[in-house]
Amino acid sequence: MKNYRIAYIPGDGVGTEVTAEAEKILNTVAAKHNFTIEGQYFDWSCDYFLKNGVMMPDDALETLKSFDAIFLGCIGDAAKVPDHISLTMLLAIRKGFDQYVNLRPIKIFPGVTSPVKGVTPETLDMIVVRENTEGEYSANGGFFKMGTPDAFALQTAIFTQKGCERVIKYAFELAQKRKKLGTKSPVGMVTNCTKSNALNYSMVFWDSVFNRVSVNYPDIKTDMALVDALTMWFVKNPDYFDVIVASNLFGDIITDLGAMLQGGMGFAAGGNINPEKKYPSMFEPIHGSAPKYTGKGIVNPVASIESARMLLEHLDEYQAARDIENATATILSDGKFRTADMGGTFKTHEVGDAIATAI
Ligand code: IPM
Ligand code: MN
Repeated sequence: MKNYRIAYIPGDGVGTEVTAEAEKILNTVAAKHNFTIEGQYFDWSCDYFLKNGVMMPDDALETLKSFDAIFLGCIGDAAKVPDHISLTMLLAIRKGFDQYVNLRPIKIFPGVTSPVKGVTPETLDMIVVRENTEGEYSANGGFFKMGTPDAFALQTAIFTQKGCERVIKYAFELAQKRKKLGTKSPVGMVTNCTKSNALNYSMVFWDSVFNRVSVNYPDIKTDMALVDALTMWFVKNPDYFDVIVASNLFGDIITDLGAMLQGGMGFAAGGNINPEKKYPSMFEPIHGSAPKYTGKGIVNPVASIESARMLLEHLDEYQAARDIENATATILSDGKFRTADMGGTFKTHEVGDAIATAI
């Protein structure tokens, strides 16, 4: 029997509650599909920082390396540790394990209401491929002449040819796969999310790589949208999009908007993927740690459960992944088990239990 070793890092705030639901669902499908999950928990978080002065031990990546995948709840609690410090942990794993694709599906389950009019499972089915290791998140720069009237900060983005090429290639290959599966048939399109009208080095370079890569995929349509206009089209014509490839920062921004299309942060899942599987990939809900809801057991576990589904897809456990998706769709369309964000009164674990039972 196949056994997968999963590292669970619940992190901060509601991370513990949503990670418990992801683990519950993973164990439920494992039992049904004849594989086992060997989970190990790591308490790396802001509380860990308060005790140890670091978010995770120096050898954390060495420890995580032997796992098949990582599940992360959420990181950050500004009342304990400033965000730009606590979140270095997340970015260190993304970069350290060369998880250069941040994959964020934007779709809506039946029974879920989007704040944007007219969004249905038939009209909303797109996926953002976000560059996840460089670009605007390159952490290059400094503070200069601080304490003087000439003080300034410098933050330099780095766009490498290799970095752009591999993520854009991934987007085209994903569009081909989706086209073949009929996921968004007959679209087969990659939209280049850019801003080359204003960012005259980085984004002009990015566009040139996009154009060069696209030539190798004549069966896939290409499209280009400036990021500001793209936010407008996301709201106006969400049905238009298939695969969108974006730099690190642009991908971050447009996927929060995407989460709203999906019905809210409670539904938005993501995977930080190392496509070559040289290192473990890490799956996490896009939402934050929501300290004010901590311990109340009221947040929506679907984003977390969806991230667990993506984790299984990454491990090629497609049938198990489909079971999770179908069970979630059944429970949400049934309309009984709703957390507070959906106007219901059910608890996080009750929705998780309902999905587990449906599986
Ligand atoms: C995300 C988050 C992170 C990011 C933060 C917490 C550093 O917003 O995963 O989208 O910007 O990547
Ligand atoms: Mn974000």
